[in-house]
Amino acid sequence: MEKINISSLEDLKKYAKTLASELSLGDIVVLSGDLGSGKTTFVQLLAQAFDIPDKVTSPTYTYIHEYKIPQFAKESGILAHMDFYRIENEQVFHTIGTGDYLGSPHVINIIEWGEKFESLLPFVSKKIEFILEEDKTRTLLVHK
Ligand SMILES: Nc1ncnc2c1ncn2[C@@H]1O[C@H](COP(=O)(O)OP(=O)(O)O)[C@@H](O)[C@H]1O
Ligand SMILES: [Mg+2]
Repeated sequence: MEKINISSLEDLKKYAKTLASELSLGDIVVLSGDLGSGKTTFVQLLAQAFDIPDKVTSPTYTYIHEYKIPQFAKESGILAHMDFYRIENEQVFHTIGTGDYLGSPHVINIIEWGEKFESLLPFVSKKIEFILEEDKTRTLLVHK
């Protein structure tokens, strides 16, 4: 496990760049941590790191947003940003179309609250735990 101290948005941006350089199509990344710990912000910075021009908004109410990744255009690569926070049960998990993305060789999956249905994920490439500290800095625990 790797521990990363984040004391500014700039630090988070730096780590987003590092992660972007490590990810491959097909990967599944779980983001865990309390509301407000910075998961959505991190996905916005990750999209920036991938030079995705679209505005990235929280999928809390829509479950899954997808964005084309310019550097993987040839492979029809997309970033799927999911949020399991509002998913109540396994049936809903399947109904929203998770199966079209998870396990697809064209998709990098980034899942807020992914630990909620971890047993339904085909595998997990990386798990990043966001901790909001009392001094408002963040600690990221990265599990490979
Ligand atoms: N590293 C950071 N430094 C400062 N503010 C941050 C940082 N990460 C997130 N924030 C701010 O915290 C708030 C909540 O972040 P958000 O990404 O929505 O959290 P989550 O998706 O985990 O609920 C936002 O206003 C965001 O700008
Ligand atoms: Mg969020």
